[in-house]
Amino acid sequence: MSESTIAPTVPVAEGGKSILLDQVTKRFPGQKSPAVDGLTLEIPAGKIVMLVGPSGCGKTTTLKMINRLIEPTTGRIVLGDEDVTDIDGDDLRRRIGYVIQAGGLFPHLTVAANISIVPKMLGWAKDRITARVDELLELVSLDPAIYRDRYPRELSGGQQQRIGVARALAADPPVLLMDEPFGAVDPITRQRLQDELIRIQEEVQKTMVIVTHDFDEAVKLGDWIVVFDEGARIVQYDTPDRILAEPANEFVENFIGAGAGLKQLTLRRVGDVDLAEAIIARPGDAAKDVLTRIDAAGHGHAVILDERDRPLQWPSRLQLTRLETIGSTPTENLPVIGRRATLNDALDTMLVSSAGAALVTGKRDAFLGVINIETIMDAITAVRTEAAAAGTNTPVGTNTESISIIDPTATDGAAAWAPQRRSVATLSPRRRSRRPPERAVGADSSSSLPGSSSCWRHSSSGSTPPSSPTPSAPRCRPTRSGAECSSTSR
Ligand SMILES: Nc1ncnc2c1ncn2[C@@H]1O[C@H](COP(=O)(O)OP(=O)(O)O)[C@@H](O)[C@H]1O
Ligand SMILES: [Mg+2]
Repeated sequence: MSESTIAPTVPVAEGGKSILLDQVTKRFPGQKSPAVDGLTLEIPAGKIVMLVGPSGCGKTTTLKMINRLIEPTTGRIVLGDEDVTDIDGDDLRRRIGYVIQAGGLFPHLTVAANISIVPKMLGWAKDRITARVDELLELVSLDPAIYRDRYPRELSGGQQQRIGVARALAADPPVLLMDEPFGAVDPITRQRLQDELIRIQEEVQKTMVIVTHDFDEAVKLGDWIVVFDEGARIVQYDTPDRILAEPANEFVENFIGAGAGLKQLTLRRVGDVDLAEAIIARPGDAAKDVLTRIDAAGHGHAVILDERDRPLQWPSRLQLTRLETIGSTPTENLPVIGRRATLNDALDTMLVSSAGAALVTGKRDAFLGVINIETIMDAITAVRTEAAAAGTNTPVGTNTESISIIDPTATDGAAAWAPQRRSVATLSPRRRSRRPPERAVGADSSSSLPGSSSCWRHSSSGSTPPSSPTPSAPRCRPTRSGAECSSTSR
């Protein structure tokens, strides 16, 4: 593969903006009940919020109302501190990246032309667009020299999906919406794309709203997860940690599926554990010198790195004894895993590796260390201990109650216990963290006005407390990739 070094001309990291859906309802003509029913949802800036729920519960409709591909019947959409409910839809969509299955690329346009669509519409200069295309291809780990002039049909499913993400990021929008982006690719490619998305998010810090039917994907990618029932009714809105530890009810439990304990491993990343050290060598080194070094360290393998510190080979002691000098040919299918990958994924990779371990890489695929079974076992113990400790001090169900606005000037007793006012503006972009200190607000049939002087309170008389299972709750059965649900009410 040829190398290319592109100096970024446009800053990539612009950060995200918060999104507020304020009492949003969508009623399709001829539908008995609304597809989205009075949804109030606060999406913190710079975070990944996952929308999950059974088929037909209103995930796509919710997503498309954010960029007004679907117009809400009633309610408001606020982006940052701007009410965008009535602004020109095309203008809005240029400010919001949108990714669908298989990238949704135009087949008759090259990769570069696909990525350039929005920058062109915005009237960017040609040089700027060219530089941006190359920069984005690098960001999604595709060599610009190889891929910029290809057509979508000349790409694998995973590559098309990467281009879809690059295109959505082209004009550096603060918000990215994705509808089941990895639904059409095989499980191994899906895992890689998920890891890549997490890495990209570290760099770009966008606000991302992602629809998925795969609960494991939601746990892996989300800072926050919204579990919807029909009519986009929120059953639970919480961190993956807390949803796994304290599912709001049986509906959520069913959705999580079997093995909630093991899924906690999905919450720990390779980069969070102590990696084992390795003996490192380069192409051209004398094999006997490398052998001396691994013997001195008591290791069974040496890691061969290229000039950019990327793993090339991982020869065993035996293989080294057969060599004079270390070659430069990369070994196919090295067990390599990114530091952002989950321990679950690491375990999968290690189990098919002859070394029973995996090589961990970081930024630009540079080698960081080795992960082995002992490391994972230590982490499993730590996760159990942490989960046990967290269970005692996690507040119970506060964000599963419906939340309503009360008038602070009201003199009735209820106002007196109003806990706090929280507005979108108070949620500042932060680095990705597994335990965000602030809870996002999500409720149906309630209101949240960021500029208003109203207060939040937990309502005991909400029209439908989202925490209670509804009679029409779909039946779910666990599958390998989460839960498959079918509605019993239609
Ligand atoms: N254009 C439309 N016209 C009529 N009904 C629609 C339309 N789009 C979606 N719906 C209905 O709205 C509900 C929610 O759909 P959708 O948001 O696509 O669900 P999900 O993405 O969660 O599977 C479903 O009952 C669906 O049939
Ligand atoms: Mg959908």
